Amino acid sequence: MTDKNFYVTTAIYYVNEKLHLGHVYEFVLADTLARYHRLLGEDVFFLTGTDEHGQKVERAALSCGKKPQEYVDHMSGEVIKLLEYFHISNDDFLRTTQKRHEREVQKFFEKLWENGDIYKGKYKGWYCVFEENFLTESQLVDGKCPECGRDVEMVEEENYFFKLSKYLGKVLEHIEKNPDFIIPETRRNEVVSLIKQGLDNVSVSRTAFKWGVPLTFDKKHVSYVWIDALLNYITALGALTDGEKFNVFWPADYHIIGKDIIKFHAIIWPALLMSAGIELPKCIAAHGFLLKGEEKLSKSKGIVLNPYDIAGKYGVDPVRYFLLKEIVFGNDGTYTDELMVNRFNSDLSNDLGNLVSRVLTMVKKYFNGEIPNRDEPHELDLQLQKSWEVCLDNYLKNMSDLKFRKSLVSIWSFVASANWYVDKTEPWSLEKKGSTSKLKTVIYNLCEGLRLLTIVIYPIMPVDMEKLWVQLGIKEKISSCKIPQDLKWGLLKPGTKIGKIYPLFPRINKQKL
Ligand code: MSP
Repeated sequence: MTDKNFYVTTAIYYVNEKLHLGHVYEFVLADTLARYHRLLGEDVFFLTGTDEHGQKVERAALSCGKKPQEYVDHMSGEVIKLLEYFHISNDDFLRTTQKRHEREVQKFFEKLWENGDIYKGKYKGWYCVFEENFLTESQLVDGKCPECGRDVEMVEEENYFFKLSKYLGKVLEHIEKNPDFIIPETRRNEVVSLIKQGLDNVSVSRTAFKWGVPLTFDKKHVSYVWIDALLNYITALGALTDGEKFNVFWPADYHIIGKDIIKFHAIIWPALLMSAGIELPKCIAAHGFLLKGEEKLSKSKGIVLNPYDIAGKYGVDPVRYFLLKEIVFGNDGTYTDELMVNRFNSDLSNDLGNLVSRVLTMVKKYFNGEIPNRDEPHELDLQLQKSWEVCLDNYLKNMSDLKFRKSLVSIWSFVASANWYVDKTEPWSLEKKGSTSKLKTVIYNLCEGLRLLTIVIYPIMPVDMEKLWVQLGIKEKISSCKIPQDLKWGLLKPGTKIGKIYPLFPRINKQKL
């Protein structure tokens, strides 16, 4: 273990309806990053959870004839099931209706109240319940919510307001001094221009309904759901109570969120933290949206991507692979079955799957299932090793920056080199000619290539790579490997007995789908 700590979060999910593949994309991003940092030997804390208060959730509960608490208990259970299904390795799961969270939200409000950064006022204006967002007349598009296109409601109520304007200058200064505070750059520019246009003070409490955290100093008010939600990133660490985890893990290394909620995370959240005298997170990383074909996902329009249906057809890890390979971080990406099948058949089945079965079958056939010892390397052997070094270099450079697509491209270029090496060295001819020493070296190198590939792909496809590890017959757990130490060429122990061989990614017949 290094003495470095690493804290990564996702947004917390509304429980008004079931999650779709776009949400899965977000937690796969965070999970891959968390798993990668664990391999780096860091002490990782990975947080996700559910956003359970507010009018949208309250109405969803009522519309199914349930009490809000009963409804959110059920729906958050569904989110947990989905996380487990997709092999998400979160260390904690925060629900905003948990007492541990509510207590801290109340304390945070007391702080704002005591330091004079909130004041009582009247809000009269528009509100989009679906986005849980206050809107001005000029923000509306054809009288509807600019984000989701739904009808908005006129709200007139007593609210507490947070003096956002007092902090805008400081937030802007922070963004300008810290180019990596918001990524990618397009989002950073968007935030800068939003701040420069000027923003009103924001409502931080509601009085029109009760499904929220009550404020201790004014019981008529409950916290505005967005403030309640943003605070999850510190309440899960016990920031305002015992502070134990908070002292270890805060500030967060990454808040991974979608581009639609950048304003809350990159303007309001830093301002709230400044008001409370708390350090800012290091990076707000905003991903793009997953579309179905060209269209935005929308349950009401029937444009849906059900994660269980899709992973049921292709497997969980191939779907994780698809999301990270197909979508450039920060850009929107597209899912179609056709794209998925093409990726599966070409990258997983043809390139990687064939390599694995070619190599392991030769270990079985030529060496009775035991990984041979290598001899002096020749030109082709050195070329393969060189190709690994280039791959590793790119992998390490890109993984920490969330450039998973680039990482995968470099990994797959090594897969291609290994396939090329098989074709060039022709182990079957070496066997026929009786060039045993050369054959041993070639097969050892190929097995070593598979060992290295398994480790670097593990954060992206953890369960399938565990299976491959077992096929390779390596006894140590793959999760206990360390990067970069275990990625040195030549660490595979000769004499290792390989396991049972079976195809991990059998080709999908398009016609059958
Ligand atoms: N509850 C708020 C977040 C509070 S965080 C303090 C919320 N919830 S959400 O359920 O609507 O969205 C959760 C995350 O999923 C957000 O980061 C959002 O951008 C992301 N996505 C929602 N639809 C998505 C796609 N179609 N594609 C990718 N991500 C998507 O907002």
